[in-house]
Amino acid sequence: MKTIAPRALAHCLRSSILTLIALVVIACAASPSSVRKTTLFTENWKFFLGDVPKGQDPALDDTKWRVLNLPHDWSVEGEFSKDAPATPGGGALPGGIGWYRKTFTVPEADKGKLVFVDFDGVYRNSEVWINGHYLGKRPYGYISFRYELTPYLKYGKENNLLAVRVDNSQQPNSRWYSGSGIYRNVWLVITDKISVDHWGTFVTTPEVTERTAKVSIRTSVRNASGKDQQLTLKTIILNEKGEKVASTQSGGVAPKNAVWAIAQELTIQNPALWSVDSPRLYKAVTTVESKGAVRDEYETSFGIRTFIFDSEKGFLLNGQQLKIKGVCNHHDLGCFGAAVNRRALERQLEIMKGMGVNSIRTSHNPPAPELLDLCDRMGIIVMDEAFDMWRKKKTEYDYALDWDAWHQRDVEDFVLRDRNHPSVFIWSIGNEIMEQWDKEDSSGVVIARELASIIKRLDTTRPITAACNNPDPSNQLIKSGALDLIGYNYSQGLYPDFHKTYPGKRFIATETTSALATRGHYDMPSDSIRRWPERWDKPFDKGNADNTCSSYDNCSAPWGSTHEETWKIIKKYDFLSGMYIWTGFDYLGEPTPYGWPSRSSYFGIVDLAGFPKDAYYLYQSEWTNKPVLHIFPHWNWKEGDTVDVWAYTNCEEVELLLNGTSLGTKKKVGDELHLMWRVPFRPGILKAIGRSGGKETLVREIRTAGTPARIVLEADRNVIVADGRDLSFVTVKVLDNAGTLVPGADQLVHFSILGEGKIVGVDNGLQTSLESFKAQERKAFNGLCLVVIQSTERGGQIALTATSEGLQGMRIHIDAK
Ligand code: GAL
Repeated sequence: MKTIAPRALAHCLRSSILTLIALVVIACAASPSSVRKTTLFTENWKFFLGDVPKGQDPALDDTKWRVLNLPHDWSVEGEFSKDAPATPGGGALPGGIGWYRKTFTVPEADKGKLVFVDFDGVYRNSEVWINGHYLGKRPYGYISFRYELTPYLKYGKENNLLAVRVDNSQQPNSRWYSGSGIYRNVWLVITDKISVDHWGTFVTTPEVTERTAKVSIRTSVRNASGKDQQLTLKTIILNEKGEKVASTQSGGVAPKNAVWAIAQELTIQNPALWSVDSPRLYKAVTTVESKGAVRDEYETSFGIRTFIFDSEKGFLLNGQQLKIKGVCNHHDLGCFGAAVNRRALERQLEIMKGMGVNSIRTSHNPPAPELLDLCDRMGIIVMDEAFDMWRKKKTEYDYALDWDAWHQRDVEDFVLRDRNHPSVFIWSIGNEIMEQWDKEDSSGVVIARELASIIKRLDTTRPITAACNNPDPSNQLIKSGALDLIGYNYSQGLYPDFHKTYPGKRFIATETTSALATRGHYDMPSDSIRRWPERWDKPFDKGNADNTCSSYDNCSAPWGSTHEETWKIIKKYDFLSGMYIWTGFDYLGEPTPYGWPSRSSYFGIVDLAGFPKDAYYLYQSEWTNKPVLHIFPHWNWKEGDTVDVWAYTNCEEVELLLNGTSLGTKKKVGDELHLMWRVPFRPGILKAIGRSGGKETLVREIRTAGTPARIVLEADRNVIVADGRDLSFVTVKVLDNAGTLVPGADQLVHFSILGEGKIVGVDNGLQTSLESFKAQERKAFNGLCLVVIQSTERGGQIALTATSEGLQGMRIHIDAK
């Protein structure tokens, strides 16, 4: 064995220590993640529902408070009530006041750094304290905001206390379900005293050809070091493979206690363009250095694309005409309420993409940042909307109360946060703003101009619109000249004449349709259209006794249309750049045309649980290249009934057979969007054969179901990530002995779970269900219900069992890894 002399050993040790120090120095310089730390700050918060005197006091005993992880929405945990101050329009769930507290330590090593807390959204009227010191308030429930904690922090083993009071007690303050609490993520951000400022980069691509793209980056660096600093700002651009495709660096003196703004330009050769079919992304990595030491590293994801709205051709993305096939969605996620979950959002978007949607309108407020990240990645263009009201209110206690004090700040922050997202294409300054109709004053003109000028100061690359339900040129917002795109909500009858009213102007149907449907419910005859209610503000008592709406696309609000009516017009004219259907998903609140016990909407193409209604396949047959043949309704009727059988299809022709006898072959003629057969009901098998080019391409069958016999569970994902956040959505089906879904089945299904997962929500899509979303059981509705499983932070197997009296149950396994 080789021995080492003590001197040599000392030398050896010294040099390894030096090497180690050198490595550490290099690591610090090269691994800037040690300079900027961004951590999810969502675990182990204390929560108390109700007001607490001095809730911000670090000495307050909160040991009895509930411990939970954010995001959290306390309203969705409550009980539905006819008397809830939010009203059924607000979801009939409780509001109130709640307190959140989080105790945390900051390592000694972070002394001398800057520490911030970032809230993605708190509904509403949040006030925040650190160690008893008041940081401020933020009334708007949909805005993201930051506080600096640095001056008030304790380091090392000493505890810090962050306290948040949330006040959603003044109701109603919304025309839909808002949720209550810290319902989006919270982040702790630690940076050097010299660092990229909050939302401190702005990337645009002013010149794009097939061969090159110019990338312009404006960076704001904050120098809180107390001294002027000579800095180097390096920017490199990485493609999706992580390869460097461009780089640059600039130098200069950043003045003390100020923000240093620097502009850089880079060129990318053969740029990979972002589009809805191929959403290619780049990353700008900004490094701030002083005296050779890295002070910050900051990443900005962006995309390269060109787009224009044209008064004749509509919308062109990267030079190609593209009809905007959009849906409006509210922010709630069904059984999650308003509490954000990335996978739940992703699932919604996957379901929307599956029917051919290429755009989302974030009605009527800034969305969770995760939504925009997902749209960037999935190739979905976004109309990003700021407000549902300005100074003139729509509900008693809404944001109009905060307008004067906050709108400037809120609209600035809205743009600053979202302007790097390639998915964001349009800024909407408001929905159905009351000031449109101003007669006595012209506040509509003044505010529209003010908002547009704030936005244009921060971003000139996107057009500004407003969702107007007053299409007349006397509309103050249109009159202001501040809108780059004239946006109509409804008024579909006026679309063909748009250019007569607004010569040379560009158009977007910011909101359309408002069709109404209950999944699996059918009112016949299918060709008689009901427009409900006559007036939105009048009580409605003429509907179905069980508060259902028909799924034949023969039911709509009178200000809107059926699905087919509006799509036929939009499809016909090129200059109509696109449409945003009200809505992609059902949402909590606004149960037009009904009131209590309805507590969620009927407008969705997909129900609250995520199960498609029939209209889903209309769009799929029109908006995608997938072969589609969808026939409905179910086949459980009374002998002697006459039943309308519809098919949504993109096959050239469809033949329908009942128990082997042909009922005829049909083709869509003219602008028809569905086929229909009027059939005397006889139980058995209804079969549709789709043919194209003389060949049989698709076959669908619907069978008369027998009595409920068993339960089947189908997980959307059998393997999920063991991160305490990921989800598996499990569809529960009630089937007969032959495996046919039983259309009217409404059995109560009980769930039990073993292993590394928990049940975080149940639903069935029924608008009148008053059952809790946070339960271990759910009644099926029209044969289906949903149970959502979330991983814990430990890997392992999850076993989910579903049972129901008189039915054969089922168990499935999901792996959390
Ligand atoms: C629109 C409004 C939406 C929703 C919809 C229902 O006028 O912008 O928020 O209320 O009506 O049809």
